[in-house]
Amino acid sequence: MKTTLISAKIIPEFHRQIGSELEAFLQYLAIAAYFEKAALPRLAAHFARQAEEERGHAMRFLQLLIDNDADVVIPAIPAPEGQFRDAEHAVTLSLERELRVTEEIHSLLRLARQENDFTSETFLHWFVKEQLEEVSTADQLLKMIQRAGSQRLLLVEEFLARSGPMRLGKPAEEEGG
Ligand SMILES: [Fe+2]
Ligand SMILES: [Fe+2]
Repeated sequence: MKTTLISAKIIPEFHRQIGSELEAFLQYLAIAAYFEKAALPRLAAHFARQAEEERGHAMRFLQLLIDNDADVVIPAIPAPEGQFRDAEHAVTLSLERELRVTEEIHSLLRLARQENDFTSETFLHWFVKEQLEEVSTADQLLKMIQRAGSQRLLLVEEFLARSGPMRLGKPAEEEGG
């Protein structure tokens, strides 16, 4: 007997979202490598941490499907952008991606509501909150880099070194996977 509590309509959308989260994982790895090569280790560490979070997001969707005895499909993941003009370009790309993912989460939530799928709706609430943090963090980082300018990125490095993991005003242990 199948014990699926989530809507049949939303399952393929969750497969697509696993792809989107893994795409973000690869993109942030590429950005982390770019900063590592540019000898900006704090920015590299920031994006390596972001990459891990994205992997964690994909795992949450995967686990939801497993818990619901639903089909698990991991789609093909397109190669990430690997060439960046400068730090601002790389961080702009990350903000754009977070805005896109936020839209995706919101449309998943709309579908869950249409389907009276309370299980998916409750599951997605965590992501709504998470996306606000991710968008706000990327936006703050972009503003900081723009203010510092390409010649003074060490100021941004110094800020990240002093503030620890960048979840503005939040201790690290509050971070969810
Ligand atoms: Fe994500
Ligand atoms: Fe994200």
